[in-house]
Amino acid sequence: MTLSPLTLRDYREASTLHQEAFFTGWSDTSFQELLQTPHTFGIQMREKENLLGYILWREIEDEAEILTFVIATHARQKGRGSALLNALCARLKRKEIQSLFIEVAEDNIPALSFYQKHAFTLLGKRKNYYARENNTYICAMTFQKKLHEYLPKQKGFIKNKKDVDDPFIMK
Ligand SMILES: CC(C)(COP(=O)(O)OP(=O)(O)OC[C@H]1O[C@@H](n2cnc3c(N)ncnc32)[C@H](O)[C@@H]1OP(=O)(O)O)[C@@H](O)C(=O)NCCC(=O)NCCS
Repeated sequence: MTLSPLTLRDYREASTLHQEAFFTGWSDTSFQELLQTPHTFGIQMREKENLLGYILWREIEDEAEILTFVIATHARQKGRGSALLNALCARLKRKEIQSLFIEVAEDNIPALSFYQKHAFTLLGKRKNYYARENNTYICAMTFQKKLHEYLPKQKGFIKNKKDVDDPFIMK
């Protein structure tokens, strides 16, 4: 299993996986555009050349937001999503980014459980955010993960001692 940057040449596979995972999967064109958007990055996981999953995010100043996150159906619940998220958090901490945000559909029980397990806290709900069948919409739940511990005596945020090392170097 290898982790490496998700790049423009991966857009077709990324889009295929996305469409398998989500009710409104993103197109090839969406991935082509996103993977060329400034401040937007991805990490992919492969096993024997096969794309098992990826996480895509945007960094603005000292905040980052997960744009999408997918593990292939057959590869789920084996710690791979956690490995990708840990790799992302390690990079963000190294870059002194303080907070990571994510929006999750309120009917996505596996993802809600996943983010809670990974110490994200609920900030609020956005009504009628995600489309579902028959022209219905459901809420998005917005979560935040603080990436650094606040130590008042040290006047600021310091790196969490439990950081894992960045498993690969990205620009
Ligand atoms: C969310 C997702 C990325 C998690 O990836 P994963 O590789 O299965 O996650 P891990 O194996 O590292 O973590 C497992 C944890 O996730 C949660 N989880 C994963 N699948 C679950 C399921 N079917 N039911 C309930 N909880 C689940 C649990 O908290 C679980 O911890 P546990 O094993 O201690 O119960 C994956 O389910 C996925 O790709 N889903 C479809 C796309 C999606 O919803 N992406 C997130 C959009 S915000």
